[in-house]
Amino acid sequence: MSRIIFEQYLDEETSTYTFLIADPKTREAALVDSVRENVSFYKKRVQELGLNLRYLLETHVHADHVTGNGLLQDAFPNAQVGLSEKANVKFPHIPLADGATLKVGEIEIQTFYTPGHTSESLTFLVDGNRLLTGDTLFIGSCGRTDFQAGDSKMMFQSLKRLAALPAETLVYPGHDYNKRWVSSIGEQLVSNKLLSMTEAEFIAELDSWKLPPPRKIKESVPANLLNGRSPAEVRSAEARA
Ligand SMILES: [Fe+2]
Repeated sequence: MSRIIFEQYLDEETSTYTFLIADPKTREAALVDSVRENVSFYKKRVQELGLNLRYLLETHVHADHVTGNGLLQDAFPNAQVGLSEKANVKFPHIPLADGATLKVGEIEIQTFYTPGHTSESLTFLVDGNRLLTGDTLFIGSCGRTDFQAGDSKMMFQSLKRLAALPAETLVYPGHDYNKRWVSSIGEQLVSNKLLSMTEAEFIAELDSWKLPPPRKIKESVPANLLNGRSPAEVRSAEARA
């Protein structure tokens, strides 16, 4: 039996990757960067595999999609949300600091604080060799730094830190707009030109990007600060309590 269940799902509309990680022996599981529109699919997968969903992790407070975590907690009340200790959110969650480790059965998920895309961005190292890089390191690129307290200088430092991991470490980004699913640190060191720039070159390159804002930013950020719920849903949950 394989020692890890690891599944990667693509949300086609926002090119977002979501990850299911589980221990095949204990059946404990974690889901990383869920998308609200796909909650019924995740529920089906968790039930099909007979998993005990323990953690709902977020690499950061997303601007391009709404998290499914609130709805998932309705279905799996034992699942706890984990996100950066720096995230300015009020709902109950595990505040993750740099170096924090969660166990999913025997599988270890280690937290790296990698600010730059946002001030609270995390990268997760799963089972010592799979790096879930969120919007920090992309395949051939990196996340933008022009909103949500993004900072190119911090991104440069975060990328340096990830690039120093062993070459065979697998890289699973939070998005890929060309449907590339996985790379490695070694492959990125050779092919990602951002990783060989000086700090000044890197900052100038990111400054030149001039990207339009994400289509759903106005709805996504406020909803994600409420664990993926609308203010009306929060009010009706409070009224029921
Ligand atoms: Fe993002």
